Amino acid sequence: MRNAILEILKQNTGQYISGEEISQALQVSRTAVWKHIRTLKQSGYDIEAHSRLGYTLRQTTDRLLPAEIKAHLTSEVLGQEIYYFGEVDSTNNEAKKLAANGCPEGTIVVAEAQATGRGRLSRGWFSPFGKGIWLSVVLRPPFGPMDAAKCTLMAAVGVNRAINKVTGTGCGIKWPNDILWNGRKIVGILTEMSAEMDAINYVVIGMGINVNIDEFPDDIAATAASLSIASGHQISRIKLLTAILSELESVYMLVKKTGFAPALAAWREESITLGQTVKVCGFESSFNGVAVDIDADGALLVETPQGIERVLAGDVSIRPVMPE
Ligand code: BTN
Repeated sequence: MRNAILEILKQNTGQYISGEEISQALQVSRTAVWKHIRTLKQSGYDIEAHSRLGYTLRQTTDRLLPAEIKAHLTSEVLGQEIYYFGEVDSTNNEAKKLAANGCPEGTIVVAEAQATGRGRLSRGWFSPFGKGIWLSVVLRPPFGPMDAAKCTLMAAVGVNRAINKVTGTGCGIKWPNDILWNGRKIVGILTEMSAEMDAINYVVIGMGINVNIDEFPDDIAATAASLSIASGHQISRIKLLTAILSELESVYMLVKKTGFAPALAAWREESITLGQTVKVCGFESSFNGVAVDIDADGALLVETPQGIERVLAGDVSIRPVMPE
């Protein structure tokens, strides 16, 4: 009913429609119309009520409500099933529960805020209400567990393409899967999976996208940025979210059809790591070298005086090294 009222308001954008007309069109009482309008307002829709003229929709909501996502969705698999939370501990945790209970491929979990958003290497993820896209996508790829790391690179390609299409900010991918603007982090991706020896049960791709954040906590203020900072204006989260689902779906379908080679080639093109002198920091040791390529498994190849080191994503982070 609420969606039907919203639809009528959207069809009448720019003009008023009376409670009486809505109640007649939908065969419900005027009190019911009023109650649904009140709930829509609480969901962020800017609806003006005039005692004589009725209701008018001034501005649609920026919340990532399933009805709004569906209205803009162009992907055919990703986002067909949507779980939405005002606040949740971590969208990845919810997605893993849903995946373990058999939810279909393409199911997404999205939240306005995360209480304990998780990042790579056991770090947290700053996830304030309504300011970012905190999103997890469930995939059931027909690959072996060895291919899971490449799913993350594939996701970075999809997200980076969508961001650059929607915002024109010229972001690039830092190995393995951070998206940076001007050396500052805008997106982090955390991929988690459940697998048997030779088959993946599910992969959850968790994406944290700093969209309209103006201020970051002190510990990340120097290294993080948002798309609104990068572009100089507010970005529509709905537009960006649906573009991400569409780009991610395109690259995933191509990978399923032809293998990872085209996704890795796209990753190389959008990479800001290749050609850089980097410091590779592991738990026990670190070394410097030049990032020269990624191999067919998505490992970073770093040239050092001792030869080429092959770096896997799991337990390292890399930092650019400035020339002296
Ligand atoms: C990183 O450390 O760079 C990865 C950050 C991933 C954050 C996202 S936000 C949505 C999803 N839910 C989580 O708890 N983490 C991921």
